[in-house]
Amino acid sequence: MIETITELDALRARVNGWKREGLRVGFVPTMGNLHAGHYSLVMLARQYADRVVSSVFVNPTQFGPNEDFTRYPRTPEADTTGLEGAGCDVLWLPTVESMYPFGVELAARINVPGVSSVLEGAHRPGHFDGVCTVVTRLFNQVQPDVAAFGKKDFQQLAVIRQMVTDLAFPIEILGGSIVRESDGLAMSSRNQYLSAEERPIAAEIRRTLLAMRAAVASGQPRLEVEAEASRRLAAAGFAVDYAAVRRPDLSEPEDGEKSARVALIAAKLGRTRLIDNLEF
Ligand code: PAF
Repeated sequence: MIETITELDALRARVNGWKREGLRVGFVPTMGNLHAGHYSLVMLARQYADRVVSSVFVNPTQFGPNEDFTRYPRTPEADTTGLEGAGCDVLWLPTVESMYPFGVELAARINVPGVSSVLEGAHRPGHFDGVCTVVTRLFNQVQPDVAAFGKKDFQQLAVIRQMVTDLAFPIEILGGSIVRESDGLAMSSRNQYLSAEERPIAAEIRRTLLAMRAAVASGQPRLEVEAEASRRLAAAGFAVDYAAVRRPDLSEPEDGEKSARVALIAAKLGRTRLIDNLEF
């Protein structure tokens, strides 16, 4: 039976009890409206831990002024049932007041320079500061041994890894594989914003990523690959933020370089902003 905890003292007591028994604690932070991608992270954490805590907290500090904070879907009952089915032991539900006791304006902020400022960071100023600010608090609240983040948010995972190393959090970070719909669309809580007409078009993101990988493999220069991908997405009806080929640390690779690469896309279809990536 999953236990829902809303008070920090109760969370600490539960986790400390497990630790006294010598149990390893896994953690999956989320913003709720959970889907198979989130549940796969709970199952991943379970492979590395004896007990798993998952948090649901729609974090105001990582949304920009014109973003979807107020309309972000909130589905607490379905989330609780789904987490229990995935093998989660504790659902941690902090309030905004307990997360930011001095208020959002006076909250101590965490900035991870460099990797936070490109791609998503350039298009969503302050977004990763908000993510790191809340993940630091969640890590301090839950005190897990291991935490799982989805690879769909490729750059978020890179930022979190850098933060954990830089600030010496004693936490092992796991990256969970992207879970996709049958037509290749990466699962996301934001997919439900798509209209019936937009939904099939959204799968063009995955096809474009595959085309980018093929173009890089055939030796096409990076800037051409990126421009062609942007044109293809724009022709399908997207407003493209970026279509980029990068090294795993998000620096720009040289043409012909044999290193690992990742193609990343962020694009808006109507009112819905989608991101996806492909490592190769
Ligand atoms: O990936 C998310 O859902 C959020 O960015 C996270 C990590 C839960 C922080 O609010």
